Amino acid sequence: MYAGMSGSNHAGQKNSDLMWDFRSDTVTRPSVEMRAAMADALVGDDVYDDDPTVVILQEKLAQMAGMESALFFPTGTQSNLAALLYYCGRGDEYIAGDEYHIFRDEAGGAAVLGGISPFPLPTNNTGGLTVEQVSASVKPDDPHCPVSKLLCLENTVAGRVQDQSLIQALSETAKNKGLSVHLDGARIFNAAIKTGLSLKELCAPVDSISICLSKGLGAPVGSVLCGSHALIRQAKRMRKILGGGMRQVGVLAACGLYALENNVNRLSDDHNTALRLAEGLNEIPEVSVDVSAVETNMVFLNPGEGHHENLQRHLAENGILIGLQIPEIRLVTHMNVDNEAIDFFIQKTKEYYANK
Ligand SMILES: Cc1ncc(COP(=O)(O)O)c(C=O)c1O
Repeated sequence: MYAGMSGSNHAGQKNSDLMWDFRSDTVTRPSVEMRAAMADALVGDDVYDDDPTVVILQEKLAQMAGMESALFFPTGTQSNLAALLYYCGRGDEYIAGDEYHIFRDEAGGAAVLGGISPFPLPTNNTGGLTVEQVSASVKPDDPHCPVSKLLCLENTVAGRVQDQSLIQALSETAKNKGLSVHLDGARIFNAAIKTGLSLKELCAPVDSISICLSKGLGAPVGSVLCGSHALIRQAKRMRKILGGGMRQVGVLAACGLYALENNVNRLSDDHNTALRLAEGLNEIPEVSVDVSAVETNMVFLNPGEGHHENLQRHLAENGILIGLQIPEIRLVTHMNVDNEAIDFFIQKTKEYYANK
C-alpha cells in the first residue's frame, strides 16, 4: 500500500515505515542510481579545496547561472546567511518579502549572528513585491535609520513562479539606489522548467543566488551559492564561521551532480501531479483549492474549519502524510509521489468527507 515499499527509488533501504509524504519536497529519498553516484565519487578534503567532485559541482552551477564562482553549502539556510553576511554588516538592513523563507523561516539568523536588521514588505498573493514598495523602503542617509544594503528576492515563492520582468524591475530599482540583490532560488529549477528560461536567464538580474539541491532535485543534502569571486571568497570564510566547512563531501556533491543531470527535466512531472491533485481535491464540495494558483509543485488545501487535524489523522491512517498549516495546508509533490499516490489521496479525502 505504501508508495515507499516498492520501486527502484527505494531499493536497498529499510523502509517498512515509509508513507506517501506530501509535507515537502525535502522528503525525497536518494534513488539507487544516486546512491551509486555517491559510492563512485572521487573525494578529497574540501576545506583545502581538494575535493574534485565538489569543484566540478561548483564550476558547473556557476557556469549554468552565468556567475563567476560558486560554493557548496550543507543547507540553503547557511548559504543564504553567508550571502547576507557578505552584503551587510552590523547596523545594515536587508529588504525582503514577509513571506520569504530568508525572513520568516531561517530563525532570524541575520539578526542573531550578523546584527543585520530585516525590513519585511507585505508579499502579494503571487509572492511578489512592487517597485513602489521596494523604492519606498530604501532608507535615506539618516543616522536614525539602518543602512539599506540588500534586496532579497525569492523564486519560486510558495510554488508561484515570479515574473521575470518583475524580478528585473525590482532589481533595477534596488541597484539604482545602491543596493545589491540576492535571490533565494531554493526552487529555481521549478521556475526554469515552468517558464522555459535557462538558469542563466533567471539569474541575470541578480548579484547572487542560492540554489537548493535537496528539494525537488532529490539530493539528500546541499545548496550552492553562486555569485562574484569576491562574494564567494568571503562566503567561504562565513561558511567556516558557521561551521559549514566539510571534508570528503564529494559523496554529497555527487548527488547534486547526479540531480542536475537527471532530475531537472522531470520536475514537470511534479508540476503535473500537483495539478492533478488540485483538480481532484477541488471536486470535493467541502474543501477549497485555488487550482489556478498551482504553477509548480505546491497545492494549498483549505479543508474547512475544524477539519485540519481530523483530515490529517484520517490520511495518516491510510499512509499519507500532510502538514497542519492553518487555514491552508501546503501539499507538495515530488519524485516519490506518483499518479497512483495522487489518486489515492483524493479518494481518501473524499472518503473522509463522506463519513464525517
Ligand atoms: C524557499 C526556501 N529557501 C531556503 C530554504 C532553506 O533550505 P534548507 O532547509 O536547506 O536550509 C528552504 C527550505 O525549505 C526554502 O523553502
